[in-house]
Amino acid sequence: MSVNIKFEPEGRSGIIAEGTYLWDAAKRLGIYLPAECEGRGECDTCAVIIKEGATLLSSLTEAERERLSPERLAAGERLACQTKVEHSGDLVLQPVPVTERAETSEEALKGFRKEFREMSLDKKLATLVELEAVAMMQTLNAVFGLPFTMGEKVLNFMAGRGRDLNRREREARRPAEHRAATAEAAGAEETHEP
Ligand code: FES
Repeated sequence: MSVNIKFEPEGRSGIIAEGTYLWDAAKRLGIYLPAECEGRGECDTCAVIIKEGATLLSSLTEAERERLSPERLAAGERLACQTKVEHSGDLVLQPVPVTERAETSEEALKGFRKEFREMSLDKKLATLVELEAVAMMQTLNAVFGLPFTMGEKVLNFMAGRGRDLNRREREARRPAEHRAATAEAAGAEETHEP
């Protein structure tokens, strides 16, 4: 049994298997969903709005209840890394715009770069003076894109790393509510891409 899934506003669509997490489905369809906490249910950067097919999805996890306000839940929001498709049918969803969720470190850094570039020289200097020596070096690396290894490491760290995590690590982060079911249905693991 399969699920027809469509992401708005791009309209990108495809077929996924039951048992697939929304975050994985998005990735397969080339939709970028940030994952600041690497799928641990500790942020809201992967939030999506379910437009159609809410009943096809797994129940709300504790993490979703903690991270999403009652208003957001009422508006149909779910955390893509916490939500599994459990029934076949048609699903339509949309990523929550960055203006309505927390910024990722990468987005915040991008915003800071732009802000910094637009500052007057005095303001730039004043901003830099406020920073501690190490932080200043890291910031300069980031702002000016200098190829310092340290700067790159920091950037990678801040940019939401974890995209190369293997399947076992990803599984370990799945909602506690889903882990027992996953173990019982080992065969269904095939449907879940790292
Ligand atoms: S990536 Fe942080 S809650 Fe989904």
